[in-house]
Amino acid sequence: MITKQTIDRVFETARVEEVIGEFVQLKKAGSNFKGLSPFVDEKSPSFMVSPVKQIWKDFSTGKGGNAISFLMEHEHYSYPEAIRWLAKKYNIEIEETEQTNEEKEKINERESMFLVSKFAKDYFHDLMLNSQQGKAIGYSYFKERGFTEETIKKFELGYCKDEWDNFTNAALDKGYDIKYLASTGLTIVKEGGKQFDRFKGRVLFPIHSMSGRILGFGGRILTNDKKAAKYLNSPESDIYHKSKILYGIYQAKKEIAKQDNCYLVEGYTDVISFNQSGVENVVASSGTALTSDQIRLVNRLTKNITVLFDGDAAGIRASIRGIDLILEQGMNVKVVQFPDGEDPDSFAKSHSDAELKEYLDTSAKDFINFKVSLLLKEANNDPVKKAGLIRDIVTSISKIPDAIQREVYVQECSNIMDISERVLFSELAQIISKEAANQRKKTSSRSNSNVDPNEPPPEYFLEQEQAQMGLVKGGVSSEKIDQLLILEKEIIRILLLYGNEEADFVDFIEVEDENGKVTIEKESHTNQVSKEVYLHLQDDEIEFTNPLFQEVYFEMIHQLNQAEKIDVAQLTSHQNVEVTSLVTSILMDEENPKRQLSDWERKNIYVTEASKILPKLISDAVFNIRRVLIDRKIKDLITPDPSEEKPIINLELIQDYTNLKIKLYEKLNRVI
Ligand code: CTP
Ligand code: MN
Repeated sequence: MITKQTIDRVFETARVEEVIGEFVQLKKAGSNFKGLSPFVDEKSPSFMVSPVKQIWKDFSTGKGGNAISFLMEHEHYSYPEAIRWLAKKYNIEIEETEQTNEEKEKINERESMFLVSKFAKDYFHDLMLNSQQGKAIGYSYFKERGFTEETIKKFELGYCKDEWDNFTNAALDKGYDIKYLASTGLTIVKEGGKQFDRFKGRVLFPIHSMSGRILGFGGRILTNDKKAAKYLNSPESDIYHKSKILYGIYQAKKEIAKQDNCYLVEGYTDVISFNQSGVENVVASSGTALTSDQIRLVNRLTKNITVLFDGDAAGIRASIRGIDLILEQGMNVKVVQFPDGEDPDSFAKSHSDAELKEYLDTSAKDFINFKVSLLLKEANNDPVKKAGLIRDIVTSISKIPDAIQREVYVQECSNIMDISERVLFSELAQIISKEAANQRKKTSSRSNSNVDPNEPPPEYFLEQEQAQMGLVKGGVSSEKIDQLLILEKEIIRILLLYGNEEADFVDFIEVEDENGKVTIEKESHTNQVSKEVYLHLQDDEIEFTNPLFQEVYFEMIHQLNQAEKIDVAQLTSHQNVEVTSLVTSILMDEENPKRQLSDWERKNIYVTEASKILPKLISDAVFNIRRVLIDRKIKDLITPDPSEEKPIINLELIQDYTNLKIKLYEKLNRVI
């Protein structure tokens, strides 16, 4: 682990405008910098960087944060990767916390495996471009397949000489340990100690991680020898897990995010040909069945996947299961089928770039349409088969986590297959409840055991069950929540922007004179905004319903206790990326020229002095939160508990709360 001190130093040293300046062309605009959004194509700049606050915001996508979060968004780095990148840029030495010897060894071993893999990639690539044999055999093979030099360099393709140990010797000469050559599979060590190059005589496709490290290789034979395996891949190891990576993801990630879609193909050559034809948002599952881990990689970049199938129908039937896995992660799936006998590679080769794009656009089918038309052919009007087919399709639909989307698909399915929606819904309900029952069984039998991270969380099934009973159907309940969220965010906003300012607050207190007559008197006091808000919320024991708001709030209260003021800089450089992103988005919204003013602010636009509007802003937010909470309470009281036999409605309590609500309204109106 990187030490806290190192992270702090990185934050102290890094300048957000310098970091972003490496990726986005920035122009000075007042006290800020402006540029074109690096996340979408746009003509007028909506991307803003504040050197004063050390934060950025992209107004066209709503993304924002500090230097670290920019690298995470733009380069898709993990948090430690972003820290390391910055440390390198600013020449900061990275200190790591003490690890046990075992941990150290494990990390060192993986590190050594990465190093030797990188060496191999460079060696094979260089050999192919610069050696006699490499040029004559490896390079000319790729040329023959139509790959340009630019493509070969982009994918860092290589060649391993057709000799027993040419590569192994080169690596040993450079001081690499045979241990790591063996554990990465680059060298095969036979029993008697003889060492051979695994990829002898093959052209090589290095396999990169999302952040560009070399994990392994695919090696293709150059002949059409049917006896030898066409591809030989690196064996599974501590750094190479075939089921967790997608070929091409490193080269494709930017374009996937930008196009907001990912093409999924089968082979290395499909990826490369597409790239050469100008379709760069493409990755390959490398011939194996798609896994949840692989889909999760794409899910970090986009919600949309287009699966490309070769012309032969046999392959499709086998890989169609992968689609259910994609649906399960709440992603949208489209399918493109290539003409008979063509795969993406051959199609890209035999058509112009424009024709390829046109084909992808026009023949992309929604998965449900695709599956129906595919299976209908098979069922061939046989009623028994057709029933099985319906179940098959509804099972796919049942994988979709979102209830509304499921409904849309059921309607569509009903139209295409000419079956009533009612039948489909009842089939869907059956499948979902069966699945939920299975899930419960699984959960109870593995209580206390390790939870499988690939399984959807139990709440998901609960939601499915509720949906089936018609309990959650958008709108109604979420509206209430939204109202609270808006108010909670408003409190956070006030604290961030004005927390350290002082303002005059007005109280209305009931005063009784000697005759017992009660009058209301106005009393004012000066207080620091954050303290005033804290007191109000404390009074009513109001807690934030949103955990992120709660975390930010606690953090601010903690600061207040420590130093009597809120330290915004500490929040924008917070370790939790969600915190920095929330805080920066609130801060930068103030800079947005097109920003939505709240109703009240619009009416009072002439008020320039913040301190004048503050008391009103605060009391509005606090009172409104109270009002919503009381409304909820009343609603709960009116709705009797269905588990009770004779539900009792507590009229007295309802009356109390209603009175409280009326008082609150009076107060709200008074503070104007
Ligand atoms: N594959 C493999 N081992 C094999 C055959 C295939 O690992 N013996 C994987 C490779 O990742 C390959 C993918 O499955 O890229 C798809 O196989 P295929 O379509 O046969 O290969 P292509 O990539 O199309 O290669 P080529 O065009 O050179 O035949
Ligand atoms: Mn192929």
